[in-house]
Amino acid sequence: MAILITGGAGYIGSHTMVEFLTAGRELVVVDNFMNSKPESLRRVKEITGKDFRFYEVDLLDRDKLEKVFLENEIEACIHFAGLKAVGESCEKPLLYYHNNITGTLNLCELLAKYGAKRIVFSSSATVYGKPASVPITEDFPTSTTNPYGETKLMIERILADLVKADPEWSVSVLRYFNPIGAHPSGRIGEDPQGIPNNLLPYVSQVATGRREFLSIFGDDYATHDGTGVRDYIHVVDLARAHLSAIEYAEKTTGIDYFNIGTGVGYSVLDIVHAYETATGAKVPYRIAPRRPGDIDECYANPEKAAKVLGWRAEYGLEEMCRHAYGWQSQNPNGYDK
Ligand code: NAD
Ligand code: UD1
Repeated sequence: MAILITGGAGYIGSHTMVEFLTAGRELVVVDNFMNSKPESLRRVKEITGKDFRFYEVDLLDRDKLEKVFLENEIEACIHFAGLKAVGESCEKPLLYYHNNITGTLNLCELLAKYGAKRIVFSSSATVYGKPASVPITEDFPTSTTNPYGETKLMIERILADLVKADPEWSVSVLRYFNPIGAHPSGRIGEDPQGIPNNLLPYVSQVATGRREFLSIFGDDYATHDGTGVRDYIHVVDLARAHLSAIEYAEKTTGIDYFNIGTGVGYSVLDIVHAYETATGAKVPYRIAPRRPGDIDECYANPEKAAKVLGWRAEYGLEEMCRHAYGWQSQNPNGYDK
């Protein structure tokens, strides 16, 4: 029996594959490479020395996707595949709704048809909108401010309805906070196309000289130093949370929501300083206007995941920065040679 991983070639998917293969789990992986490269999969094999079945399939192509189920015995799915850029989702809402929602509907229909009613879904802290306070617990009200976030919330609701209609389903919704860093080997990592939207890839590109300076978006937030505070989590810790979630899903039915963060908030300036200390590189910065839609502070209360899944983040900020730098300096152009 195999676990199906959708979006396995992506940033979080590739790190999760490493953890699952190392744990001896059998994997079937699908990706259409719309935001990733085959090279990441080759490196997963290189790191683990293990093999898996791969299908270049778009989740929107239901017939091709069904072939994956016909040719393999799937017992559960970890569903990473989706588009994730907030700005692009505002420019191309139909693309985001169609890809993320229709892709998930196709997938869930086939999981049900082939008796694999277990899914771990990649949601996001973005579903908490502008939280009234921090740290955030899973029972906080949800809201969104952009089509990307809307697709995450809609999928959460679709999965909740599925469980209501058919109690055989087991659904774990993982609400990720801010995944950063890379595999300690430096062989896989985040490979954003074009100018990075997120903080850490940008910092890494400045530290390695690919970009001149970091623009810090606002220094007048209600935080300890005026810059935005987030809960950064090492991508390997995040990957391991999926292993715990799958083990939990194998024993339970129903739907559960988990914050996947460290519980510690760091500001943009904290990150810049930690990065410089961890790597010895310089990260020149300038203060720029606020980025529309950004919030002051966002960090998790991760106790539910600790109690129910037995999972806790282990890596600290120093390792997150060091590993991010290791990946960026060894692969200045990402997976492109
Ligand atoms: P990523 O873009 O690196 O990986 C997603 C993968 O899915 C890519 O390889 C892409 O090619 C594939 N994909 C997209 N649409 C597909 C389709 N229709 N058919 C087949 N493959 C498809 O993103 P990531 O950072 O690894 O994120 C994984 C998941 O976690 C996404 O659902 C994302 O929304 C969610 N998430 C990410 C973050 C983050 O900061 N990285 C935070 C919260 C939630
Ligand atoms: C982003 C996404 C959010 C997603 C989350 C987790 C946006 C608008 N939101 O949010 O949907 O759930 O990642 O992956 O993209 N910053 C700078 N300079 C930069 C980049 C960022 O100062 O060049 C600051 C931001 O203002 C913020 C912090 O760094 O305070 C983190 O930014 P980012 O990495 O984009 O994550 P989020 O804002 O949390």
